[in-house]
Amino acid sequence: MATTFKDKVVIITGASNGVGAATAALFAEQGAKIAAFDIRDPPAATSDSKIEIKCDVSKEDEVNTAVKQVVDKWGTIDVLCNVAGIADQFQRLTDTTNDALNTIMGVNFFGPFYLMKAVIPHFLAKPGEVQGEGYMTQLPKKGAIVNVCSVAAVRGAAAGAAYTSSKHALLGLSRNTAWMYHRDGVRCNVVVPGGILTNIMGNSGGGARGEHLDPVGRAILQGPQSVIPAVTMPADTANAIVFLAGADSVNGAEVSIDHGWTVA
Ligand SMILES: NC(=O)c1ccc[n+]([C@@H]2O[C@H](COP(=O)([O-])OP(=O)(O)OC[C@H]3O[C@@H](n4cnc5c(N)ncnc54)[C@H](O)[C@@H]3O)[C@@H](O)[C@H]2O)c1
Repeated sequence: MATTFKDKVVIITGASNGVGAATAALFAEQGAKIAAFDIRDPPAATSDSKIEIKCDVSKEDEVNTAVKQVVDKWGTIDVLCNVAGIADQFQRLTDTTNDALNTIMGVNFFGPFYLMKAVIPHFLAKPGEVQGEGYMTQLPKKGAIVNVCSVAAVRGAAAGAAYTSSKHALLGLSRNTAWMYHRDGVRCNVVVPGGILTNIMGNSGGGARGEHLDPVGRAILQGPQSVIPAVTMPADTANAIVFLAGADSVNGAEVSIDHGWTVA
């Protein structure tokens, strides 16, 4: 068993399903202490190395309470993985209601914003200062953030208006965070998955097989001009998340897991 993350405290949002569940399993294999946040009711059992906390990431008070529970139990946080997300149904701007936009921004953008705002102060409170100067500078290693974006964060032709906006916003916030905190020893990277074989459409109020997708948006995005390649598995993205969490010199990176969709 690899022990890269032995006894490291890792928060994972959206941990009950899909990519979040796969990520929690990989960190657990490496000996991490897992704080699994999800809007779903958690299983009753908890253990010394895993706590499950019911938390709607779009609600700042719930996020702050959940993060406090983690610090109260383990005293510190080492890694934050913002995985929780919901999809739209491929609606164009004129078919996107304000409520739908707010809901999707709430989970996909404000969720990671609230989590990072609550967690970064705990990273910064750890001991460790910049050593040396110029080319010989050594940065402290205080904490790692991995945010789950999407091909919809870097292309306009991957989802509807709301989801595309939320993931573009998350990419921008991630880049800014990576740079603003790099001298403090806080890293922030993103994964950019293509289609993943999960039930995100069903879990987001649509049909599991895409039967509720907006026909106009779908025809535009998935029509004859479409370059959408094969789906990936949740473990593919989970592997990239764990890699980025442990890659001490990698900051502000975007790792695509999409069979080349991003460069098509
Ligand atoms: N599935 C895809 O094709 C795909 C593609 C690119 C990016 N992504 C991104 O990957 C991430 C994971 O998606 P997935 O495919 O594993 O989806 P999923 O539906 O399988 O899992 C998402 C998890 O997030 C939880 N969740 C939803 N709303 C929440 C909230 N408000 N607070 C806390 N938890 C909440 C759900 O209960 C679920 O356990 C998302 O950010 C998604 O946008 C997915």
